[in-house]
Amino acid sequence: MKILKKLLLLFLIIFIGAQFFGPEKNLGDLSSVEPFFSDTNPSKEVEAILKESCLDCHSDVTRYPWYNKITPINYWLADHVADGKKHFDMSAWDGYSIKKKDHKFEELIEMVEQKEMPLESYTFTHKEANLTDAQIAAVVDWGKKVRLKYSLGPRPQ
Ligand code: HEC
Repeated sequence: MKILKKLLLLFLIIFIGAQFFGPEKNLGDLSSVEPFFSDTNPSKEVEAILKESCLDCHSDVTRYPWYNKITPINYWLADHVADGKKHFDMSAWDGYSIKKKDHKFEELIEMVEQKEMPLESYTFTHKEANLTDAQIAAVVDWGKKVRLKYSLGPRPQ
């Protein structure tokens, strides 16, 4: 019993101490996504879907939930954001080549159609990010138009 109490106390001390540490936050400006929107020209509906369900992990602009104040949850969330941005970053869109942009949209259509995005671990706590069939159709339709534009645009780049 004594040893259990000591272990518990040790754990508590480590947990409290850990609260002084946390990852850097991803709190950029919404204007960083403007070049993406003007390049891909989504309807107001699709733009709203992207802002609600995708931006948190795929841009410089993350809206953090209250539990991001808790270490180690904040590290776990930061990891997701970093991973999401590494694969597809709407705030870095201008730096992508046409070929890369087109490929990202190929993935985007596939992922949204197959309901792989937004991530399940995200919709679990963000119910409002779940997409309806009509929303999925709107995103896919937009994605196809964007790909058509890239296929007609100047190449190669
Ligand atoms: C909770 C964070 C999170 C949310 C929200 C999210 N994603 Fe992702 N996304 C990721 C991560 C992490 C990856 C990379 C790992 C993987 O493919 O599962 C990824 C991968 C992708 C890729 C693949 C890029 C490539 O080259 O392979 C696309 C496209 C994408 N997401 C689009 C979206 C769209 C569109 C939405 C909104 C409908 C969305 N994501 C919502 C985290 C997220």
